[in-house]
Amino acid sequence: GKVLLAYSGGLDTSCILAWLIDEGYDVIAFMADVGQEEDFEAARTKALKCGAKDFILSDMKREFVEELIFPAVQANAIYEDVYLLGTSLARPVIARGMIEAAAATGCQYVSHGCTGKGNDQVRFELAFYGLKPDIKVIAPWRNPEFYNRFAGRSALLQYAESKGIAVTQTKAKPWSTDENLFHISYEAGILEDPNTTPPDDMWKLTKSPAAAPDTPEKISIEFQRGIPVKVKVGSTGKEHTDAVDIFLTLNALARANGIGRVDIVENRFIGVKSRGCYESPGATILRAAHIDLEGLTLDREVRRTRDQIITTKFSEFLYYGFFFSPECDFVRGCIPASQKTVNGEVRLSLYKGNVTIEGRVSDEKLYDEKFTSMDDLEGFPAEAATGFIAVQAIRLKQSSRRGAVDRKT
Ligand code: ARG
Ligand code: SIN
Repeated sequence: GKVLLAYSGGLDTSCILAWLIDEGYDVIAFMADVGQEEDFEAARTKALKCGAKDFILSDMKREFVEELIFPAVQANAIYEDVYLLGTSLARPVIARGMIEAAAATGCQYVSHGCTGKGNDQVRFELAFYGLKPDIKVIAPWRNPEFYNRFAGRSALLQYAESKGIAVTQTKAKPWSTDENLFHISYEAGILEDPNTTPPDDMWKLTKSPAAAPDTPEKISIEFQRGIPVKVKVGSTGKEHTDAVDIFLTLNALARANGIGRVDIVENRFIGVKSRGCYESPGATILRAAHIDLEGLTLDREVRRTRDQIITTKFSEFLYYGFFFSPECDFVRGCIPASQKTVNGEVRLSLYKGNVTIEGRVSDEKLYDEKFTSMDDLEGFPAEAATGFIAVQAIRLKQSSRRGAVDRKT
């Protein structure tokens, strides 16, 4: 059989590659460029040296930004109040790229190096099956023959040596990472103790807020239907309008100003708790700007409905790996419909880890200064508010008479 392996260039997937060949498969190594910092040529050389019949590098940055990241910005997607879903978002594009590459190269199998305890195995495989029901998956880290043989690093290292697989000279970092242009994640190793503060030199995508410049960076972001279409940068006077360029520009600004670090103990879909640290620089700015503009431009009940259903479910489907499902298809269709009025521009200041909103404008007429003004009652039926309160109070008066509510504050 022929296998397309999601290859990372690291020790695990290099050993998996060699092991699959030992098991009698022809292996094609697949790598997605989703904006991670990587020496792709070195990875190609290494994969071919491990015995891969071919190496496929697929640039998925634009589809990642336009098809996954921007909808996530529009929906204010977030998991457990903290995690902006950077890994979850990349999985559907990578899985789709793999299924396409498998079809193009005649692979009946796809394989990955995800562990049996994580979210990623679920995301990859549900996406594979959602896209190609008859695809066959090889998950070595769930195969007792593989995991018993390679339990612990030393067996892997020994095997790598026996196969002539170069083990990177740099001392392995005491945590595991997953990087793309949206974020980097840090998990496992020394981070497994939830009370261990991440060392300063762990953070890779952002400057420490304490070391960030003493003068704030002023920028503005223009949105059309909830999608960022223009970024103006104060310090350079430059305007950025291309989707990928917008995202990378915000990443660079956030990086310089120490924006986007979080640390969370989260609940994995599989049922275990996991401590993770994340840097999502540009995404943190976009989220703040987008939420702010919605305040000015989004109808109150559209917003509530969206928050309670669309935001919650979309985030959950992403995290749980149900992107290619009927329910996610449905929810994704609702996102643009919620954003018709989210047009305008937000001005922000970036300063030592903080994103501060400085102002916003929009041509949408949801906010009317005159109507809002405390100094002007014209057109507003103030006397009707008496009835509004009276009706709201009916139930409260009744419950008060029954003594139903504790008076302690
Ligand atoms: N906990 C995060 C998530 O589930 C990050 C996962 C990182 N994945 C990895 N293969 N290192 O989305
Ligand atoms: C893994 O287990 O492969 C990484 C962590 C995760 O997927 O949650």
